[in-house]
Amino acid sequence: MLSVIIPTYNEKESIIRTIKEAQKSIPRNSKYEVIVVDDDSPDKTWKAVSEYKDKRVKCVRRRKEKGLGSAVLRGFREAKGKYFLVMDADGQHDPSIIPRMLKHIEKNDFVIGSRFVKGGSAKNWSKTRLLYSKLAAMPAKSILDEKVHDPMSGFFMIQRRVYEENKEDITGKGFKIMLELMVFSEKKRRIKAKEVPYAFRPRREGASKLGIKTLVDYGLMLASLAVKGRVLKFVLTGLLGVLVNLGVLYALTEYAGLYYIVSAVIAIEIAILHNFLWNNYWTWRYRKKEQGFVKRLLSFNTVALAGMVINIAALWFFTEIIGLWYLLSQAIGIAIGALLNYFWNDMWTFKSK
Ligand code: GDD
Ligand code: MN
Repeated sequence: MLSVIIPTYNEKESIIRTIKEAQKSIPRNSKYEVIVVDDDSPDKTWKAVSEYKDKRVKCVRRRKEKGLGSAVLRGFREAKGKYFLVMDADGQHDPSIIPRMLKHIEKNDFVIGSRFVKGGSAKNWSKTRLLYSKLAAMPAKSILDEKVHDPMSGFFMIQRRVYEENKEDITGKGFKIMLELMVFSEKKRRIKAKEVPYAFRPRREGASKLGIKTLVDYGLMLASLAVKGRVLKFVLTGLLGVLVNLGVLYALTEYAGLYYIVSAVIAIEIAILHNFLWNNYWTWRYRKKEQGFVKRLLSFNTVALAGMVINIAALWFFTEIIGLWYLLSQAIGIAIGALLNYFWNDMWTFKSK
């Protein structure tokens, strides 16, 4: 069975036409249900749906919660089908591709209605809107392992199990529920996605609910997804390492009475060990590592020390030869050292089996 989930807010004028159009597109022999999740719309969208007498169509009227993402999640919770389809109520998503989506869903986890693969389009969009959309999609694409051209699509089909596997993790904040589902899925296993092209149509009636807040939510969501990503873990570990370094240097000099240069050498080594532990058990935690623990530790240590030498060399070079202000040169030196460390550790220390 296919569960079609349609979130609505003030879509009284469009919803019935959208339901009818979807019903016409679903192959005759397929069992299906349509679940409209309405947030108690002032225009009484919920009433229009309940007056549409069809046993396969039901309306969930949410009185307390609000928001597109959480409405879709509510739809998932109610859904009985093996496959879930999410689409907008305003007529922008062309349901005539449903049969093609159904054909692909068995072999894929996600089937995406896509504007940006061959055959797809968003013609009624202005050049600027298109540019914004593509720009906004860039960070989303880089977070994903699977190649997706339209990661912000609100028109998609998933296997029920994709929802089941991720229902504990997913927040449903903001608009990008599919993207969120994909990111969480990829933390658990490799996923397969297929994009089916369609022409994004102009809105039939009413206005878009996508505003500044949506954009902010999207930014926050990406940031939170990135925080869970490897690069940020590495950077945070490094920053924490600096604090450890300073703390040990201070303690050994002030309380243990060591000569500060001696304290500094010990502080550096302790900070390196500290960073290694975080990166080993956190940043690259899920990687099946080829090298044994001791080899990893030696490799990590070596590149950390080499990075410091290169850092100092860059400091000298950019200050003396290029003539930059020494603090700027140091910033460049740190950046070079950090990049070297990251890639060395990614490709060698924590190399995957
Ligand atoms: N229940 C509920 N609650 N539904 C909502 C809410 C809400 O707070 N906000 C919006 N919706 C419903 C709308 O009624 C519509 O059916 C659908 O969600 C999409 O809302 P639109 O306001 O039409 O969004 P859009 O056209 O700007 O954005 C669409 O395209 C984007 C890609 O450019 C959506 O599909 C986005 O998810 C998509 O990223
Ligand atoms: Mn819309």
